[in-house]
Amino acid sequence: MILPHRPRRNRKHPAIRAMVREHHVGPEHFIYPLFIHEGAGDVPIGAMPGCSRLSPAGLLREVEAARAVGVHSFALFPAVPEAQKTSDGREAHNRDGLVPRTLRALKDRWPDVVLVTDVALDPYNSDGHDGIVAPDGRILNDETVAVLCKQAVTQARAGADIVAPSDMMDGRVGAIRLALDAEGFSEVSILAYTAKYASAFYGPFREALDSAPKSGDKKTYQMDPANRREALREARLDAAEGADMLMVKPAGPYLDIIRDLRDASDLPIAAYQVSGEYAMLKAASERGWLDEKRAVLESLLGIRRAGADFILTYYAKQAAQWLAGG
Ligand code: PBG
Repeated sequence: MILPHRPRRNRKHPAIRAMVREHHVGPEHFIYPLFIHEGAGDVPIGAMPGCSRLSPAGLLREVEAARAVGVHSFALFPAVPEAQKTSDGREAHNRDGLVPRTLRALKDRWPDVVLVTDVALDPYNSDGHDGIVAPDGRILNDETVAVLCKQAVTQARAGADIVAPSDMMDGRVGAIRLALDAEGFSEVSILAYTAKYASAFYGPFREALDSAPKSGDKKTYQMDPANRREALREARLDAAEGADMLMVKPAGPYLDIIRDLRDASDLPIAAYQVSGEYAMLKAASERGWLDEKRAVLESLLGIRRAGADFILTYYAKQAAQWLAGG
């Protein structure tokens, strides 16, 4: 064949492939989400093999192991005993609650660690919703935002570097920015869950934290998976309200949204490879149906290629170990 264009020439040698490689993924791109609880031991999570609710000691061990392979940023998710849950979620801004105590312990041990906290009421709310539930079942927006502000300030005071509102209430980014600034935390960043979809892929996470809604679903605040334009609207609002970074969640089934936000915004874009994505990769790998290392690294590279600057992934430590040649 007379072919002037033979794309395969650029693929003929590993060194040439490396020269023309357009994207890469490394440990510097990862935030490692970790589940914490008050208990003495680590409790494995059924649908997330390899992940546990970590005790304070278990958490220190896990953070140390991740840091050893170049992961320096961590997102904390607390499992709160049922007895501490109330309809107003007030444990969310208890200065001596599990999250503030854990932030202080980690910062004491490693002052340079980057800590991300979740701002939402679901772990603390007896109704299992991210916001306050009215007697008629509605999720109250403005009342919730007032509590989220207290929660964010409590987290900042305890050492959070980045607060990440995942609640999807309207106006919370701007309100949290004002609240943080008023308390002297102008250096604390806001990572907004901008396009957080009402997804079936959060199932294992809700098992991990025992945080599933007691009634109803999250469709009046999380986004409809059918919508694409709406993510741009959320992005515009979060940016205008002072978000430092925008997030898309889940990641794998929403690569088009990641690309849309990357193209529409000049802010860094994050993506959350959520619990259900982790569970799918684990389940298929455990059955020998997928090569876990290759499939996981490809999924992470795909998320980067779609336009994510950084990724929250339960595979953070493991992927960093693989990338280091382990
Ligand atoms: C709740 C929150 C959820 C996740 C992160 N923060 C669950 C939900 O919205 O129900 C899900 C993360 C995952 O599935 O890995 N504010």
